[in-house]
Amino acid sequence: MKFFVDTADTDAIRELAETGLVDGVTTNPSLINKSGRDIIEVTREICEIVDGPVSAEVVATTHDEMMREAEVLRKIADNIAIKVPLTIDGLKTCKKLTGDGTMVNVTLCFTANQALLAGKAGASFISPFVGRHDDIGYDGMNLISEIRMIYDNYDFPTEILVASIRHPIHVLESAKIGADVATMPPEVILKLFNHPLTKSGLDAFLADWEKTGQTIG
Ligand code: E4P
Repeated sequence: MKFFVDTADTDAIRELAETGLVDGVTTNPSLINKSGRDIIEVTREICEIVDGPVSAEVVATTHDEMMREAEVLRKIADNIAIKVPLTIDGLKTCKKLTGDGTMVNVTLCFTANQALLAGKAGASFISPFVGRHDDIGYDGMNLISEIRMIYDNYDFPTEILVASIRHPIHVLESAKIGADVATMPPEVILKLFNHPLTKSGLDAFLADWEKTGQTIG
């Protein structure tokens, strides 16, 4: 499963990229706002840090305007994936852009039927939002299972990019279902490394090693 970082914080992206575990980045208008930076400038910097797909979202709501914004965004770098909302205009834009060879991430997906539409529109990625589903009392992970089954039934190449991830269990369940990508805030990626027994075990090994008086090499 690929790991994307869900942030426009370039310091955090740089730090995580050093682990070698970052396969891409997702941004959205809220994350750009949180960064306090110009969308073009910050997105260009992200594309210089990470080789994999970097999602940059259009904010227009009509097909023609989405295409105009996509032209601006895709000039930033070769690894840009244009993010469009799951609307009629968004999917028209998706079809056109993927036909031209541009990666497209269809966002704000909340039903398996919407994911089916995005697959038919040739999306490179579909972004089902699990956390926001959980927030209103639905099982976000059930949506991922349904999309996996439908895409497998018809051999859709669209990658399932699990979004709105809030905690490590979302990541674990996504991997068990066979989602292609999990996009996570930096703090969730860092939580994946942690276990108290790893820490206490390492502390004990190092304390015993100290007593041997040895060094390696
Ligand atoms: C990423 O592509 C999404 O925009 C993001 O994961 C949404 O997360 P949120 O529900 O925490 O805002």
